[in-house]
Amino acid sequence: MALLPILRYPDSRLHTVAKPVSTVDARIKTLIADMLQTMYEAKGIGLAATQVDVHERLIVMDVSEERDQAIILINPQLVWTSAETHLNEEGCLSVPGIYDGVERFDAVTVSALDEHGTSRVLQAEDLLAVCIQHEMDHLMGKVFVEYLSPLKRNRIKKKMIKAQREEAQ
Ligand code: NI
Repeated sequence: MALLPILRYPDSRLHTVAKPVSTVDARIKTLIADMLQTMYEAKGIGLAATQVDVHERLIVMDVSEERDQAIILINPQLVWTSAETHLNEEGCLSVPGIYDGVERFDAVTVSALDEHGTSRVLQAEDLLAVCIQHEMDHLMGKVFVEYLSPLKRNRIKKKMIKAQREEAQ
């Protein structure tokens, strides 16, 4: 296993639209293991392949307290969304230290392949539902700050650029 570097906003590669995974082979299994390790190390609850500069439709998540209930979604598709939506405070490993409200469906049903290449349907609500929507956005090249006002987004962009410049020194 290996820790993977996480792309940081406003890196333009975060806006790449991911392609479907063609086969769940050894390469994908290694990528899943590396992404899980990277997500746990960074204390995140979700990571999309886009964030580690791999532009294929793959997400890893774990919203459990014990950090022992990994969920892997390959080629996820939303098949149902609730009528109700809610404003949720979100953060992102690609936008460290920034948290803000995004309107999301309360519940979703997603169909996907799991890490064995088996099709599954997952019904999710609350935090897991929010996480799925956030991570699926990454696969479409969308970062959560793009839901915020241009003013807020520009402020975040400047803050991120400044932080990365300081770290590089
Ligand atoms: Ni994110």
